[in-house]
Amino acid sequence: MDDAIKRIAALEKKEQGIILDSVFDGPDGRGTKAFLGYLKSVPPESRQALIAKLPLQTAQWAEEAMAKLKPAGEAEAGKIEKKLARALERLPQLVKRMEAATRKAAKRIAKNRELVRSHFTALERIISDQQKGLPRGDLQKPATAGAEIIDLPPPDSVKPASTDISECVAKRQSRRKFSPEPVSLGELSYLLWATQGVRKVLGGGKAALRNVPSGGNMHPLETYVAASRVDGLKPGLYRYLPLDHKLVFLFTVKSQAKALSKAALGQDFVGDCAATFIWSAVPYRSEWRYTIEAAKLVLLDAGHVCQNLYLACEALGLGTCAIGAYDQKRFDALCKLDGVDEMVVYAAPVGRF
Ligand SMILES: Cc1cc2nc3c(=O)[nH]c(=O)nc-3n(C[C@H](O)[C@H](O)[C@H](O)COP(=O)(O)O)c2cc1C
Repeated sequence: MDDAIKRIAALEKKEQGIILDSVFDGPDGRGTKAFLGYLKSVPPESRQALIAKLPLQTAQWAEEAMAKLKPAGEAEAGKIEKKLARALERLPQLVKRMEAATRKAAKRIAKNRELVRSHFTALERIISDQQKGLPRGDLQKPATAGAEIIDLPPPDSVKPASTDISECVAKRQSRRKFSPEPVSLGELSYLLWATQGVRKVLGGGKAALRNVPSGGNMHPLETYVAASRVDGLKPGLYRYLPLDHKLVFLFTVKSQAKALSKAALGQDFVGDCAATFIWSAVPYRSEWRYTIEAAKLVLLDAGHVCQNLYLACEALGLGTCAIGAYDQKRFDALCKLDGVDEMVVYAAPVGRF
């Protein structure tokens, strides 16, 4: 009965991971629960042999989760045994495929370092669209005609609990557990102002200075807010209009919390929060001037924006957590972005904690 568990416990770490991935489907998934129920049903020596091989945090989580579950019955255990036996059978083939993909990945990793390096000296040899006299593009994506526009309270309508920058920096941490309480529209307004708010429009609308810096002041990011519990906002997806300091309502998202969590690879707190900030990039805004250097600048910009969100949240007594691990296709689809001219680059759930 515990043969599969003994075999899995004896595997190398990487191979063990492959097998466990075949039965785990997120922390609260049915597959995960079924496996843990099965694990509880096998003799303690076999169970412990496997648990001892898991990373400490995973082992603790598995023990806690198992404590709440009943051991699997014979029929259920038999099903999982079969599933594991099939996965073990397929393992050598799968490992071969993964090794081939890993060799390819090594090349890609080396190539990606080009993104990390600076290429400003090479820009002199490239004619940018700016130099060709082509238009720069919109400062912000316009709202479609007839769309529902939401006025935001002035950002200074909320009084931050802390205005001491040293305190906010010292207290800042990634927070992943949020209370069910909503955030107010004033608080959301403050956070949008802190992360993308416009200070001054320049050159009759050709450029704008914002509360965050941006490489060449190109501001290639757009902010989407998936509102779940924001006073005065129906749940759904909104986009910030920084030039107007307003929101435009875009659409409702079916099973929003679940869709967000799925887009964030099962990180439940990304949907289980008051509002999720989702930043997309419109790369052309930076490419127009910086051509091959734009991608790096876009990503650096995103870091500045999210850092302001962290600090502004601390000031208001709210919590947030940067989200870089996500499913590109799912997040782009959730925001209805084409993934070519505009794509999600970063996200952050916000809520009381
Ligand atoms: C670029 C970036 C991506 C991140 N992605 C995730 C993520 O997907 N999920 C998550 O839980 N935390 C994520 N984090 C948060 C880090 O795990 C966190 O900053 C780190 O563990 C240090 O903890 P602290 O922020 O509390 O100091 C990310 C942070 C950064 C800066």
